Amino acid sequence: MHRRQLGTSGLEVSAIGLGCMGLSLAYGPPMDRGAAIELIRAAHDLGVTFFDTAEAYGENEELLGEAVAPFREEVVVATKFGWKDGNLRTGTLDSTPERIRLVAEQSLRRLRTDRIDLFYQHRVDPQVPIEEVAGAVQDLIQKGKVKHFGLSEAGVQTIRRAHAVQPVAALQSEYSMFSRDPEAEILPTLEELGIGFVPFSPLGKGFLTGKIDVGTTFAEGDIRNTLPRFEAEARVTNHRIATAVTGIAARKGVPPAQVALAWLLAQKPWIVPIPGTSKLGRLRENVGGADVELSADDLREIAGMLSSLQVQGERYAPQGMKMVDR
Ligand SMILES: NC(=O)c1ccc[n+]([C@@H]2O[C@H](COP(=O)([O-])OP(=O)(O)OC[C@H]3O[C@@H](n4cnc5c(N)ncnc54)[C@H](OP(=O)(O)O)[C@@H]3O)[C@@H](O)[C@H]2O)c1
Repeated sequence: MHRRQLGTSGLEVSAIGLGCMGLSLAYGPPMDRGAAIELIRAAHDLGVTFFDTAEAYGENEELLGEAVAPFREEVVVATKFGWKDGNLRTGTLDSTPERIRLVAEQSLRRLRTDRIDLFYQHRVDPQVPIEEVAGAVQDLIQKGKVKHFGLSEAGVQTIRRAHAVQPVAALQSEYSMFSRDPEAEILPTLEELGIGFVPFSPLGKGFLTGKIDVGTTFAEGDIRNTLPRFEAEARVTNHRIATAVTGIAARKGVPPAQVALAWLLAQKPWIVPIPGTSKLGRLRENVGGADVELSADDLREIAGMLSSLQVQGERYAPQGMKMVDR
């Protein structure tokens, strides 16, 4: 797979990474550990060199650490700090410098590594000035425990303030044909500052693959049971977007997931999506998205489709939306 630079940070990664969260959290019961390790190693065999996890993703860091141990030097491992006690379910943030230092030590151990290649703040903590957060990560960088600093779901003012203290290598926020908020202010700011962008949920949490329809039910514990966008009424409207993507994909003779990923790659050369899957066939399909070229006509057709079809429903429930820094 070809590689991309995340902005001007010098961080080079495969054009498509692997989001590992769903192997342990958010989409129903965790995957069998052995099978998850096999999947991560298969991703490496397919050319993926960028793996995404977080302190708050359950057993995910341990899993990833074990999986990449045989080829650790060839890959970029990104993890995140920022939830109180490392637990998303508390709904409480904690980016105090003491906590950041503690998470770094614990994550290094769980990941079986001597450095975290990219250490993101998972959500902006309104209780801790971002300069203090950037300073704490800077100390870790100076000690060699962290290579690069990242933010997630941060707004432009926060990005600028953080970047002034410690250059930010990448922002990770939700972005797909299904969630286009970053286009207005975030992408121009990142371009100006030379910061890379890592779209999470690049397949719209599965919606853009055409495999989810109005009648699809999700397992107990699947986050999509709680998201406004996946409620019955919203799904009827939103399914039109997935249907349109499926139509474009069929004409190009590729799967819809590849169109969704190729569309992201076509937006900027410093964008690197991190789709997640628990299935080997889908992993291959997603990785193949890096080779799909969308022509100017394809991109015009998609732009037209997206301007005529409005996504219905927020991407998170109100509590989750409150955590998004504007
Ligand atoms: N920073 C943050 O706050 C944040 C938030 C959310 C996610 N993330 C990161 O972003 C990564 C990706 O996001 P995500 O997992 O939420 O969403 P996603 O990649 O948009 O979608 C994942 C869903 O799509 C399905 N899927 C994947 N490939 C498919 C294909 N080719 N055909 C049909 N279905 C397919 C998966 O199901 P199967 O497993 O059944 O294939 C899974 O349910 C996560 O793993 C995590 O690392 C970060």
